[in-house]
Amino acid sequence: MSEGPFKTLIGELTPPMQLMMTPGPSSIDPRVYRALAAPVVGHLDPWFKTCMDETQILMRQVFQTENRVTMPLSASGSGGIEAAVLNTLEEGDEAIVCVNGWFSERMYEIALRSPAKITKLEVPYGRAVDPQDVRKAGAGKKIKIVGLAHGETSSGVVTALDPFRKVADELGALLIVDTVASLAAEPLNVDKQRLDIVFSGSQKALSAPPGMSPITVYNGRRLGSSVGAPSGESASADCRRRGHGT
Ligand SMILES: Cc1ncc(COP(=O)(O)O)c(C=O)c1O
Repeated sequence: MSEGPFKTLIGELTPPMQLMMTPGPSSIDPRVYRALAAPVVGHLDPWFKTCMDETQILMRQVFQTENRVTMPLSASGSGGIEAAVLNTLEEGDEAIVCVNGWFSERMYEIALRSPAKITKLEVPYGRAVDPQDVRKAGAGKKIKIVGLAHGETSSGVVTALDPFRKVADELGALLIVDTVASLAAEPLNVDKQRLDIVFSGSQKALSAPPGMSPITVYNGRRLGSSVGAPSGESASADCRRRGHGT
């Protein structure tokens, strides 16, 4: 073999050390860098189980919840949207997605991949959707989920969640909240605020590398709605199938 791509030598990876001041990826604590340099342990090793148990304890603290299903998905924040939305919506369901920017639009687009009927409630960038409009849009319908972004990164708008909980209660709907940009940055108490499914991303206010989507799912049934019904639209985001695998 003469010259060509198979002969090219690539040097050691030496990324610049930068102070990152965007919503994410954010700068990482030296303690996290030290953890990244630790040996890899097999996912079936008893040590790993203890590590995962401790990870869940820490995630429950940051989400402020006792939800048993609180875990890191090996996915980006968008994977968290997919898991939350596609594990809940089935044929015959109806959902309302509040769109006030780029990332809540992504939740809407992912919801469109489900077989459910999706209503988009959109306001211009820089504003939050009015919960009263959700009430109106859902009146007389059987709405399975109301979805919104707590912190809409593209505009910097933080939406107050409690009025949406109230409306979701009235509609008998589950509340799905994207906290990719807001978890650990804005006050959030999943149990007190009775949020049904909340997901985030590791690379923003949690100040870890990208690639994990912490998610928490309410333990029981709320208002007769069920969580975990597989839509069949995504295999990797199907929470019932997750388990063995690296
Ligand atoms: C509010 C919000 N939701 C979802 C995402 C998507 O996350 P990711 O880029 O990790 O897929 C982002 C990313 O910036 C975000 O800010």
